[in-house]
Amino acid sequence: MLLSPQAERNWEGICEVLEDVLDDQSHKQLFALEIGSGTGQHVIRFAQKLPFITWQPSDIKEECRDSIKAYIAATHVKTVLQPVLLDASEPWDKWAGVSRNTCDVIVAVNLLQYSSFKTAQGVISGAGQILKPNGLLITYGVYAVNGVITPSCNEVLDEELRKLNPEWGLPDLDVLRQQAYGNGLRLERMVEMEDYYKCLIFRKL
Ligand SMILES: C[S@@+](CC[C@H](N)C(=O)[O-])C[C@H]1O[C@@H](n2cnc3c(N)ncnc32)[C@H](O)[C@@H]1O
Repeated sequence: MLLSPQAERNWEGICEVLEDVLDDQSHKQLFALEIGSGTGQHVIRFAQKLPFITWQPSDIKEECRDSIKAYIAATHVKTVLQPVLLDASEPWDKWAGVSRNTCDVIVAVNLLQYSSFKTAQGVISGAGQILKPNGLLITYGVYAVNGVITPSCNEVLDEELRKLNPEWGLPDLDVLRQQAYGNGLRLERMVEMEDYYKCLIFRKL
C-alpha cells in the first residue's frame, strides 16, 4: 500500500466538497469514475463517506493499481470496484470499457498539473462523452488564471513540475473553461481550498 502524506491531508476537504455538491442526490445510487487515483487513499475515504456512490478507481500506473487493490482488500469497502488501467490522454472509447452517458461523477485529484495538456484535454473531452446529462466533473489542483500564476509558492511549484517533466505544470483555468465549453460542459463553481488549491466543478449540459 502506497502512502501519500498529501492525500492524507487533503482528502477531508475534497470529500466535503463532494458531499456538498452531491447532497441532493444522496437518495439515488450514483456511479463515479476517479481518474489518476494514485495510492487509492482518496477513493477509499470517499467511498466510506459517500456510501450511495459506486466508485471506479483507475490509474495509468500498475504500482498505483496494485496499491488501490491493497487498500480495497484492507478496508473491505464494498462500493469500490477493482481499479482499471485508464490513460486519460487516450480517446474516451479506449477508457477500459467505460460507456457513453454512464457516469454521474468524474473526479480527478492532482492529476492535471502532473500530466500533459493532452491529458487535461482527454479528461474534459472524455467527461463530455461519458458523463450523463447534469453529471459533474470535479478537478482538484492548482491553476494559472488567465496566464498568471500567483502566489509565488505556486510559481515555484510550476517551475519544479516543469523541471520534472517539461509537459507538466499548472494548467490555465480559462483554457480549461474554454475546453469544457467546447465539450458540452460548463464551469459551474470554483471552491477555494487550502494552500491556494481549488476544486473546479464542471457540469455537463
Ligand atoms: C500527483 S498523482 C495524484 C494521485 C492521487 N489522485 C492523489 O491526489 O493522491 C497523479 C496521478 O495521475 C496518474 N496519471 C498521470 N498521467 C495520467 C494519465 N494520462 N491518465 C491517467 N492517470 C494518469 C499518475 O500515475 C498518478 O497516480
